[in-house]
Amino acid sequence: MDLGAPAVWLRDNCSCPSCRHPGSGQKLFAIGDIPEDLRIESMVETGGQVRVRFTPDGHESRFDAVWLRRWWSATDAPPPDDRTEDAKRTWTVRKLGDVPEATWAAYQSDPAVTAQALEDVLRVGFVILRDVEPRDGRVLDVASSFGFVRNTNYGPLFDVRIEPDPTNLAFTALAIGPHTDNPYRDPVPTLQLLHCLTNAASGGDTGLIDGFRAAAILREESPDAFETLANTAVTFRFRSPDADLQATRPMIGLDPYGRIREIRINNRSMRPVRLAPAATEHFYAAYRAFHAVLDRPELRFVTHMRAGDCVVFDNTRVLHARTAFDGPPGQRHLQGCYADIDGLASTLALIRRNLA
Ligand code: OGA
Ligand code: ZN
Ligand code: ZN
Repeated sequence: MDLGAPAVWLRDNCSCPSCRHPGSGQKLFAIGDIPEDLRIESMVETGGQVRVRFTPDGHESRFDAVWLRRWWSATDAPPPDDRTEDAKRTWTVRKLGDVPEATWAAYQSDPAVTAQALEDVLRVGFVILRDVEPRDGRVLDVASSFGFVRNTNYGPLFDVRIEPDPTNLAFTALAIGPHTDNPYRDPVPTLQLLHCLTNAASGGDTGLIDGFRAAAILREESPDAFETLANTAVTFRFRSPDADLQATRPMIGLDPYGRIREIRINNRSMRPVRLAPAATEHFYAAYRAFHAVLDRPELRFVTHMRAGDCVVFDNTRVLHARTAFDGPPGQRHLQGCYADIDGLASTLALIRRNLA
C-alpha cells in the first residue's frame, strides 16, 4: 500500500518505545537522528494497523490506521489556527445579534455558562459579565477564573479614573479613539478586562470594534492599503520613570498563509514612522483608510458600562474606545487587568473535556 506519506514524515511520527518516552509520549530522537536516505521498504495494513519497515536501518513502525488516515493528508491547506480570522465569527453590529453576556453568578456556578462565555471571547472576541461585585480588585478574580493575571509595570491591575496629573488620556474625561492596549509590549497582552466600579457620569460610553472584520473590509475595499499595513512595521513605545517599553510590529499582523491574526493600533503610543518620503505618504494613506473603516458606526458596538459590568476581550482583535464624559472626578471608575488567551482556551478545553 502507499498513502503517499513520505518516509521521513512516517518515521518522525513513529510511536514505538525506542522513538517515544513511554510515560510522556515525547520524542526520544532529534530530526538529525533520522537517516537522510530513509526510504519505505514495505507498508502493510492488517487489522486496523499499518506496519511500515524502513531502509536502510530496518526500523519498524506501527500506526493505527484511523490515526494515520486522519493525520496524513496530502493537502496544502493552512493548518487550523484558532487565533486567525478562519476560526472567528467576525461581526458588524448588525451581525453581532445578541450581546455575548452572562451573569457572574451563572458563570461561576454553571460550567455550560462558563464554557459559552469563554467561547464567546474566542469566537466573537468579547463577553460582558454582569453583576460582578463592584469591589476593588474583583477584576483579578474574574481573570483568575479562566487563567493567570498578567502582571506588568502597572501592577496586577490598573485604575481608570480622572487623575489630577494624568500621564495618559485614559485618566482624563476626554474621549479615547479605538485602540488596542499596550502595543508597546512584546508579547502583547492578548486579553484585557475592564470592570466598572462606578459610572454615574453621562457619556463615557464604551465602544468595541471587531478589528478582524475591519481589516477584512479594508482588504476587500483597498487591497493596497491592507498590504501596506500588513507589511509595514510600526514602533510603539511607552516611557515612564519606571518603564521603557517598545515593540515593532505591523498594525495588521498576518500568519504565514496571509490570514489576519493580530491587530495592533494605538495612536497614543505610536512612534514616528521612518520610511522613504513616498513610502511615508503611502503608509499614511493606508493608515487613514483603515482608521476610516474602524470609525464606521456600523462596526462599533456601543454600551454604557454600569457598575458591576466586566468586559473581557481579545486585545489582539477587538479594539476598544470610549466617548468623553462629564461629571466630577470619582463618578466614573474602572479597574482593568490583562491576561493571556492561550490560558483561557486551555480552561475552555478542560471544561469541555469534563462536560463531554
Ligand atoms: C484604557 C481604556 C477605556 C475607558 O484604560 O485602556 O481604553 O472606558 N479605557 O475608560
Ligand atoms: Zn520507532
Ligand atoms: Zn485602552
